[in-house]
Amino acid sequence: MVTSTVIAIDGPAGAGKSTVGRAIARRLGVGYLDTGAMYRAVTFAVLRRGIDPHDIDHVSEIASKIELDVTDVAGATEVVVDGEDVSIEIRGRAVTGAVSAVAANSGVRAEMVRRQRSVVKEQGGAVVEGRDIGSVVFPDADLKLFVTASARVRAERRVAEIGGDVDEVEASIIERDRKDSSRADSPLVEASDSTVVDTSGLSIQEVVDHILGMLS
Ligand code: DC
Repeated sequence: MVTSTVIAIDGPAGAGKSTVGRAIARRLGVGYLDTGAMYRAVTFAVLRRGIDPHDIDHVSEIASKIELDVTDVAGATEVVVDGEDVSIEIRGRAVTGAVSAVAANSGVRAEMVRRQRSVVKEQGGAVVEGRDIGSVVFPDADLKLFVTASARVRAERRVAEIGGDVDEVEASIIERDRKDSSRADSPLVEASDSTVVDTSGLSIQEVVDHILGMLS
């Protein structure tokens, strides 16, 4: 496997993209980029400054201005914004509630796509996870996967991890899918040449083996 390999992994929240993506990156010996963390980092910076996440110009300006480092450290995404480690904060309720609005901002998206291409070029390839990776960011990726699972299964997995009520979590997952799939700019869609991997009835190991089988 040459090191300039780019593997695009798209799909809805909670389908297992991160776990699967990291396992594949490790097995292939390439880097891993969590692009959702970048949209979350911009959202954090916006909220920190007291800016309305729907203020298109202001939010877009912040996306261009901040210093942003997203790295994978020991299997977890580490996010540093303007010198501050915000890896925990970007997963919190406030950021999660506002990130769809920020991710729908075309100025933000253009800036994130530019940064994603530059990071992956610097690293000489990577497994890249997001919503628009195969369709927009790396249309020429060596392998494009659309990793998905039913909303129910995704809700059950999340509740097993962090607790909560399955019906409520399922409803919020359906709502986030709806927002991500219906926005005007780069909605969550299967790229025409991507391979759909439904993880609903499979273990992570089975999914990883299946994908590695596609590459060999
Ligand atoms: O994967 P995640 O839940 O951390 O993503 C956070 C948000 O960012 C989610 O609303 C989808 C959006 N996103 C996006 O629009 N494009 C990407 N490439 C990655 C994430």
